[in-house]
Amino acid sequence: MNARDDAELGDALEPGAPDTWIKAANSADLEIPRPVIPVTLFGQRLVLFRDDEGELGLIGRHCPHRGADLCFGRREDHGLRCPFHGWHFDRNGQCVEQPAEPADSTMYKTIKLPSYPVVEKDGAILTYMGKGEPPRDIVVPAQPAASATR
Ligand code: FES
Repeated sequence: MNARDDAELGDALEPGAPDTWIKAANSADLEIPRPVIPVTLFGQRLVLFRDDEGELGLIGRHCPHRGADLCFGRREDHGLRCPFHGWHFDRNGQCVEQPAEPADSTMYKTIKLPSYPVVEKDGAILTYMGKGEPPRDIVVPAQPAASATR
């Protein structure tokens, strides 16, 4: 098994993520031919995408296999397929397929990228990175999250 654990490839969530919905991007940022963009929020490098059904996903940016950048992943079947060896991740960051593994392997079930809920409202794409369940009231902040970068 070549999978690395999240601690090696993932970025720790910096303190300060509020218990509110925060702006990850503008809807217009994904109005591009291939709607897959890098987003860094509170120290976590993530990939924001609109899948082949038009649904949004916000998952860890680097493949837990060999660290390939999923911003170059292929949009298919409700998620992204890693461009390097083809591991496939759904909108929730769950690995759902490892093409080079034996057909009866279930290892993929143990592999999951960080992921955050995403909603779209009033031209903004919002995510929740706080503790517990996100608030039901979704208020669009005027500004992007303080630590949001690409
Ligand atoms: S780096 Fe090998 S499947 Fe992603």
